[in-house]
This record gives sequence, C-alpha cells and structure tokens, in this order.
Amino acid sequence: MEKYAVIGNPINHSLSPSMHNAAFRSEERDANYEAIQVSVEAFDAEIAHLLAGDFNGFNVTVPFKERIIPHLDELSPFAKRCGAVNTVIKADGKWLGDNTDGAGFMEGLHEIKAVTSEDRILIIGAGGASKAIYLALADASPQQLVIANRTVEKAAAMVQKTHEAWSLAKAEKYLADFTIIIQTTSIGLPASKNETPIQLTNLQAGTVVVDIIYNPAETAFLKQAKTKGAVIQNGLPMFSGQGALAYQRWTGHMPNLEVMKKKLLEELGGQSSL
Ligand code: ATR
Repeated sequence: MEKYAVIGNPINHSLSPSMHNAAFRSEERDANYEAIQVSVEAFDAEIAHLLAGDFNGFNVTVPFKERIIPHLDELSPFAKRCGAVNTVIKADGKWLGDNTDGAGFMEGLHEIKAVTSEDRILIIGAGGASKAIYLALADASPQQLVIANRTVEKAAAMVQKTHEAWSLAKAEKYLADFTIIIQTTSIGLPASKNETPIQLTNLQAGTVVVDIIYNPAETAFLKQAKTKGAVIQNGLPMFSGQGALAYQRWTGHMPNLEVMKKKLLEELGGQSSL
C-alpha cells in the first residue's frame, strides 16, 4: 500500500486526509493518507525518522513549510522562489520539495476569472500564504500588482520589479481601482469574529473578491463584498486545488476534483455553497 501523510502542528483539524482518501477510494487506489502531528521542539529528529520510513509522499503545513527544506534533496523552482514547501515527493529514492499553493490558488481563481494583462490586483496580507499567491499572480503579468499589509515593511520585502507595497489605509482609499482583491490575512478565522482588514466602502460591484479562509465559509469580509455586488470566492477552491496538484505530483495524474470538493463540503457540514 502507498502511504502519504500531512505533517503539521496542530494537525488534528486538517481536512487533507478526508480529501485525499476520498480521491484514492474513488479510483480504487491502494493508498492511505493520514495526519501526523510533529513536535515543534523535536522537529528535526522526527522529520528525519519519517523521511527514512516507507512513505511515498507528504504534505507539509504550518509551522513547518520552511523548516523542512534542509531535510530535502531537491526543490522545484517554485518552492525555491517561495522559500517554502507544501508537497514532498519521493522520486528515485530522493525527496523532492514542491509548492502547489500558488498553482492551486490559480486553479481556484480560474473557476471565476482568467487573469489577464489588464487586471489590477490587490493582495491583502504579507504572510506565508500571501507569498505563494503573489508569485503565481506575478507570473500572470497583470497590469498592476499591489500587496497591502498592516506592517508595510513586510509587504515591501516581498514585492519585486514594478509591483507595489501599500498600507491598508491606501488600499482602502483606492479599492475601486482593482479588478481582483485577495484577502490572505488570518482575520476572519474564528467564526465569531466580525473584523475585516480594511473597510469595503469603495468596492465596486463586479469586482472579483477572494478570501482564502474556508471555515467559516463566508468571512465578514466576503459577506460585505457580496453585499456590494462583488463576485466572491472562499478558500475551498484553493485548498482543493493545492491538494489536487499534490496528488498529481505523487501519482502522475490529476484526481477527481469533484470527489475531493464533495468530501470537503460534507466535512464542513455542507455550510459552503461556493
Ligand atoms: P500565513 O502564513 O497564514 O499567511 P502569517 O505569516 O502569520 O500567516 O501572516 C498573517 C498575515 O495576517 C500578516 O500579513 C499579518 O499582518 P502583519 O504582517 O502586519 O502582522 C496579517 N494580520 C494578522 N492579524 C491582523 C490584523 N488584526 N490586522 C491586519 N492584519 C493582520
């Protein structure tokens, strides 16, 4: 049997095992995917032990996406640019690190919008998730690409070429100029919270607005955007997209994405209609 796992800390709420096992079962593949909590303090010893075992591949999540790198034999060009790995593949006895977060995000976005050279894109937040999304969007060469962050210096350290780093206040003021807006901060994560990183007063109807959070299915940010007539998407398409691409790296073919999405909606209590 093939063996796969997601490693992280904490990991008990991860939806990756259900999603991948549903896809394996749908093609009667003799494979299993589990969640393994690795200790933050003893990470190096524990990961070395796992890599020496009989696993075929891993997903890596918070807080180990950077720390795994010294343990791998090779990195894909995109993982190198991100400085972070979310997918580990065994090939010819070697461990290859890849990052499917950026391409997974693009797959999801394409369900509602193809990015063109006319687009003006705003990314809110400059953390780990933001970086993979930023690099993937930069490759699509939009007309304008801005990262706005509470700590502007972090956005400034991330942007390259002609791209811009803005304050949240500036993003709020010029919101009407953007065709695509992506919320990548952790605001909105606890279901009870009603905060948004910026006010959406200037948002234009028809703007594409994505929040990479999928639980809750609609953050306060997405709810307000919808009220203003935006075309909204939550984080489920990105999550299933990165998972599907990891699956493809391991098996050589794409999984049944609908099976994965159906399972995720089931796990989330059918609360997302997106
Ligand atoms: P991840 O790796 O999931 O992207 P992270 O690296 O912890 O998470 O980044 C969190 C992001 O959310 C950052 O952009 C952070 O802004 P700062 O760089 O200024 O810390 C942003 N963030 C978190 N809480 C916030 C808040 N209350 N208001 C505005 N931005 C916030």
